[in-house]
Amino acid sequence: MWFGMVSLFPEAFKAVTDFGITGRAIDAGIIEMAYFNPRDFADDKQHTVDDKPYGGGPGMLMKVDPLRLAINAARDVKSSSKVICLSPSGYRLDQEGLKKLALCNSLILISGRYEGVDERILEHEVDLEVSIGDYVISGGELAAMVLVDGLTRLLPSGIGCEESVKRDSFFDGLLEYPQYTRPAEISEYDEAGYVPEVLLSGNHQEIAKWRHKQALGKTYERRPDLMKKYALNESEKKLLGEYIEDQSSD
Ligand code: ADE
Repeated sequence: MWFGMVSLFPEAFKAVTDFGITGRAIDAGIIEMAYFNPRDFADDKQHTVDDKPYGGGPGMLMKVDPLRLAINAARDVKSSSKVICLSPSGYRLDQEGLKKLALCNSLILISGRYEGVDERILEHEVDLEVSIGDYVISGGELAAMVLVDGLTRLLPSGIGCEESVKRDSFFDGLLEYPQYTRPAEISEYDEAGYVPEVLLSGNHQEIAKWRHKQALGKTYERRPDLMKKYALNESEKKLLGEYIEDQSSD
């Protein structure tokens, strides 16, 4: 998958290009990132990329021309790319949204800075505005990296272990069940220091049942919004009932 990163701070993307799953995906040619800095397209001596908003108000906005030219330069490389602007006013990203975007071959990602971008860019150049959550961070670069990372996990052989994508929270509409590794006992932590017996039993059917029950219970407790959307079948209703009972007897 090709990403055209439109940003005033291309160095910021080292966090995804130089490390972890995304770094390996670049080395393996599974993803590719190209950079288009609006500052390189500003035609004045100072390479001005921002200006005051008409009508007054705090802060500065990203000007149309340098941004438009940077987007067009990215389009010249991959003309069919969907253009996404990262913004707290965008559609909120979730795993379903990521799955849809993972079907694209190329994306142009605009990282807004300052107070945002001139509305005409959004109207004429951008296909979709995306927010990574209901909070404001100081620029779109981190949000763009969240998008690149989440998408890379979904690409075939992007992660090295497709099984772990299937186990991820949200993959099937539920939060992920708790996991443990050695040692089986941690004396400093009382009962909470023990790994649940069933996981040591070797009984794969019982392990799968326990995990599903925990995923249902955790989602019920923490994310009623997800639970509402999840269609519980009869055996899941029973499992969740058992989970709630287990919790109240603890
Ligand atoms: N830029 C600032 N805050 C953001 C958010 N929540 N999502 C996407 N881009 C942003």
